Amino acid sequence: MKSIGSRITLWYAITLTATLACLFIAGHYLLERYLVKQLDELTETQFKHLAATLGRDYASLTPQVIDERIREATESASSMFYVDMHGPMTNRFFKSHNLHGMAIPDLIGEKTYSITVEGLGEVRVGEYSLQPFDVLIATPMAPVLDLMGGYRRVFFGLLGTALVLSVVIGYGLSELILKPVRVIQATALRIRSDNLAERIPVADVQDELSQLARFLNQMFDRLERSFSEIRHFAAEASHELKTPLSLVRLHMERLLVDDGLSAVQKESIVVQLEEIGRVNRIIDELLFLSRADAGAVLVDLKPQRPEQLLGAFAQDAAALAEHDGKRFEWSHHGDGSVDIDAKRIRQVLLNVLTNALKVSPRGSLVSLASTLADGLWRISLVDEGPGLSAEDCERIFDRFVRLGAESSDPRGSGLGLPISRSIVTMHKGRIWATSRDVGRGLRVVIEIPTSAG
Ligand SMILES: Nc1ncnc2c1ncn2[C@@H]1O[C@H](COP(=O)(O)OP(=O)(O)O)[C@@H](O)[C@H]1O
Ligand SMILES: [Mg+2]
Repeated sequence: MKSIGSRITLWYAITLTATLACLFIAGHYLLERYLVKQLDELTETQFKHLAATLGRDYASLTPQVIDERIREATESASSMFYVDMHGPMTNRFFKSHNLHGMAIPDLIGEKTYSITVEGLGEVRVGEYSLQPFDVLIATPMAPVLDLMGGYRRVFFGLLGTALVLSVVIGYGLSELILKPVRVIQATALRIRSDNLAERIPVADVQDELSQLARFLNQMFDRLERSFSEIRHFAAEASHELKTPLSLVRLHMERLLVDDGLSAVQKESIVVQLEEIGRVNRIIDELLFLSRADAGAVLVDLKPQRPEQLLGAFAQDAAALAEHDGKRFEWSHHGDGSVDIDAKRIRQVLLNVLTNALKVSPRGSLVSLASTLADGLWRISLVDEGPGLSAEDCERIFDRFVRLGAESSDPRGSGLGLPISRSIVTMHKGRIWATSRDVGRGLRVVIEIPTSAG
């Protein structure tokens, strides 16, 4: 029983059914007792009737006279009563015909009792004393037994119905109880660093669950505040760093055109300028990411034919590959256009391509396959480099992650793929990497819905 909902349903069904069962059992006991008491009263009435019919002088009568006096009274009620009258020493004075000569068993010490008599079935017996005689009057239990049997059949029918009904009602009840929990769950799942402004809807009541939702919302408030502080800090720090860097660069460029410096000095300045360029790039990338986190980067989505964009990109890609001594191939299938920000998608493709070129051996092939079908533009770029483990395939999209030997590559920052992912996400798309085997190259797949709306 994993879910609270099913437990509530179960408890509800068990409680309801058990309560009902207890009520029925108590009802069964009370009803049976009541009916048996009625039978006892019936036999007593019959006895009084017989006593009255016998008259006051009964003690002195012979069996024949007794028989004459009460035969008629007993015969008229022969389907209801069996009468067995005997005197001291058990010599019989009277037996109703319907006993067919049998005796009603006399339980010593019991005034009323139920007993099964062969030929008669179960009977209720009342023993009355009419000194010096004992009068046993029995009446069949069958009507009571029939009634109780009917009662039990109804009971089991109702119990089954109650069980089914209580499961249905219990399920509905648990859904009702758990509805606010599900809302909290769904909202909490949606709230991530990129939509921290969302809040759990709180009902206008003061119960435990709305209180919990309020506490969670307060927690999200605090989280949102600290997140935005961090983002502001990153954005401001990037800005503050860029101004002095531009000044340093300006001064160096001036020095470079100065004739008073030696060739060695000038070479050192060139190296420094390159480094400053790299720091500038990292700052730009950081600034982009922090703005993207804050939702401040807007994509300018316009319908664009993929083959057009890829055609232009392929020219640069082929040139880059050739420069590195590698080959680049591309293909596109499918007709139609995609809503994209062409500049940013180009940035993503360029980053994925440079990554692939960086790791590919000389003379190897980097191929890009693009398809447009079923409302999805899918680009897959495969290289023949070393590939990555499944775990690393996901890790490379984390910030500042640079793996393997080329982490010493001074041009990389480990921010290219996180930026790519953030751009693709802005297009409501996905980007991921797969490697069939380490040593057999990496495949980076980008999927963008044709209409991001
Ligand atoms: N095609 C690839 N094959 C193997 N490793 C790769 C590939 N593409 C990316 N990587 C790994 O992912 C890391 C992160 O890539 P990226 O975010 O673009 O940063 P950078 O290119 O600045 O190092 C790279 O440093 C590299 O280790
Ligand atoms: Mg890169």
